[in-house]
Formats: sequence, structure tokens, C-alpha cells
Amino acid sequence: MYDFDKAVDRSNTSSIKWSKAAIKAICGNENALPYWVADMDLVTSKAIHNAMMKSANFGVAGYAEHPNLTNDFISFVFRKHNWAVDKNSVTYSQGLLHGLALALQTFTKKGDGVLIMYPTYAPFFDMTRKNERRVIEYDLGYKDGLFYFDKERYERESRDAKLILLCSPHNPSGLVFSQEEIEFILTLAKERGQLVFSDEIHADLVHPGNTHTPLGKLSEKTGTKSITFMAPSKTFNIAGEHFAMAIFSDRDMLSAFKREQQKLYLDSPGFFIGEIAEAAYTDSDEENRELCEYLSGNAAFIRSYLECEIPEIKLVNANASFVAFLDCSSILDKVRKDRDKNPELYDGDNNLLAHFFGMRAGICMNDGSWFGKKYSSFVRLNYGTSREMVKVALDRMKKAVREL
Ligand SMILES: Cc1ncc(COP(=O)(O)O)c(C=O)c1O
Repeated sequence: MYDFDKAVDRSNTSSIKWSKAAIKAICGNENALPYWVADMDLVTSKAIHNAMMKSANFGVAGYAEHPNLTNDFISFVFRKHNWAVDKNSVTYSQGLLHGLALALQTFTKKGDGVLIMYPTYAPFFDMTRKNERRVIEYDLGYKDGLFYFDKERYERESRDAKLILLCSPHNPSGLVFSQEEIEFILTLAKERGQLVFSDEIHADLVHPGNTHTPLGKLSEKTGTKSITFMAPSKTFNIAGEHFAMAIFSDRDMLSAFKREQQKLYLDSPGFFIGEIAEAAYTDSDEENRELCEYLSGNAAFIRSYLECEIPEIKLVNANASFVAFLDCSSILDKVRKDRDKNPELYDGDNNLLAHFFGMRAGICMNDGSWFGKKYSSFVRLNYGTSREMVKVALDRMKKAVREL
């Protein structure tokens, strides 16, 4: 049994989440408690910890070879998602964003349309624009406090896209796409000659009662050109080591990607992450199972706390991982009035809610506008911590909202 009720104290370490400068930049108050960037304050598995200790005790981090890593990853994906990945379709990537950016450069050209589902993890549109591709904004439907995939609108709005970029499960909403929805996207993409990439970095943390459908598992059936990116980083709280795996729908695509990767000399993992990832994929299933339950319990706790104590704020889907959008639209007018009366606490209209919660509640969360301009009535709460620390955040938020 893992004791997730005890949060790891990461203050005064090199954690960016706990960096006073980073916290101040986001919410204006360097002393606010961090509930922002997506890593957890929870222990990783015993096997991973042991692998870290063994490597550290050995003390030499020379060039490494990890011949079992791909097989270990494939076995994990089979146990976790019931998908038998072909070894010849997989390669390593130095972090998920790196793999995605390289794939974007390799398989699309300047001016190509990239469909992104909003609200969205900001690096998706940032990377698309920096690479001079065209962002096609598709807003997920939003009704009764839940984000959903609006098929009919998607069919219209995705027409011009060369590439469909999925985030599955979806960050920041915690929406888990159904098998039928994934199949719909893939079938349409096949008809239209579109590529589909899926960032599945949060997939191994789907809460009990929900099922993740890996993109690549279905694209084998629909014949759509696809890349599925997976990673142990969020799953096992080792995100700082930047490691991911990319699974290609066909070998030509894999070869093209590898050629580009080799041009940059970015085709082999470091010593530590190799040791850690092997421990993650071979010997950490129990920790992962318990963690999914714990995070689901945190989400349920937040939902019922908000309903009873802060009904002005609503938790959206939150069916996966440890980040969730909070809909704060009903307090927005009051927050604006507070800003008008106390402009020194705010940065004008920028990151208004992040500043409200930072300055008034001592809680640092990502402002909704980071996920798209239209989403400034939301904040993203990272609940990858102990229930006690989740309650601390909610208690502080309640007091601040009451005092508005
Ligand atoms: C959806 C998503 N993709 C990618 C990343 C970053 O992955 P990496 O650090 O491996 O590039 C994150 C981190 O928060 C994320 O939430």
C-alpha cells in the first residue's frame, strides 16, 4: 500500500512548481502554495525509487544502453491498455513535446492547418505557430459544466486541417474520449487524407470506471496515418527526466521520423531515465493502480466540497489524471470589482483569476487564459497531492470567495 496521504515536501528543492519566482510570475504572490504545473507532490513507486538510489549509489552516469526498454514499454502498454504494439513501430523520443515538434516538422509543411482542441495545453498552439503552421481552433462543446466532443461541429471545422492534434485524455478538462469518438476522428481523417497525432501523456492515469482508447490501436483498424505518443512522466511522477515513446501507424513514417531525429543527434535516452523507465514499466503496476484510485478520490472530494461549500465554482469532467478545470464564471464580476478597487493586487486584466486566487487565497493555479483566450473564466487546479493539501487549497479558496 502506498501512503499518498503524505505529500512530499518539495519546497526548497529544484522543483519549478515550488519556485517562488515562477509562482510569483503566475499569480503575483511568491508565497502562494503551488497547484499549477502538472507534476505531483506524491511519492513515486518503490521500484523507481530503488532504481534511482541504485544508480545514484553507483555514481557514474556514463553513456548507457537499455536494450530491454522497448519490450518493457510494450508489455506495460499491453497490460494497461490491452494494446499489442508492434516493436517495429516504436521509437524513443526525448520528451513528449520534443517528439511532437519533430513530428510536426517532419510530416507537415509551413502553412498547413493543425486542428487543436480548445481549451488546450498552451505548448500545442505555441509550437504550431513557432513552426509557422496554421492553428485551427476547435472548441470542445461545453454544457452543464462538462466539456464534450461535438461531432457535427468537428466534422465542419476540421475540414481544412492537414493534421489533427489530439490530447487524449484531454488536458486541462480531464475529458476521456470514447472509443466511438476516436474511431470517428480516425475514419474521417482517413477519408480526408489527414494525419492524426495523439498526446497520451495522461493516459495511464485514467480514473477507475473510465477507459482510455489508445489512438494507434484503432488506427490499425481504420488505416489512418497516426502517431501515438505515450510517456511514463506523469504516470510515475518522473516528468523532469523528459522521456516518451512514439508509436507509428506505418514503418515509412517511423523511418522518416528517425532520420530527422538522427540529424539532431537526439536518438538515445540518458543513463538515469533509462534505469528509471525500466523500473516504471516492469515493476510499478500496483503503485499505478493505487494512484489512479487516489486521484479519482481527490476529484470526488473536490466535487463534493465545491457543491457543498463553494457552489459558485464548478469542477468540470476530471475523469483522468490530476489536473482539472474549475469554472469560476459566476464570481468573475465580483473579482473584476475587487481588481478595480485594489489594482495593486492584480496585473490589469492579465491572468485575473490566477491573481485573485494567488493574492486573496494564497493558492497558485494556472489561469484559464493560458489554455486559450476564451477560457479566462476558468483556472486549472493540480490535485496531484495529498487530500489534506487539496483541502487546504479548497478551504483557502472558500474564504477568499466568501470575502469577495
Ligand atoms: C498534455 C501534455 N503534453 C506534454 C507535456 C510535457 O511533456 P514533456 O515534458 O515530456 O515534453 C505535458 C506536461 O504538462 C502535458 O500536460
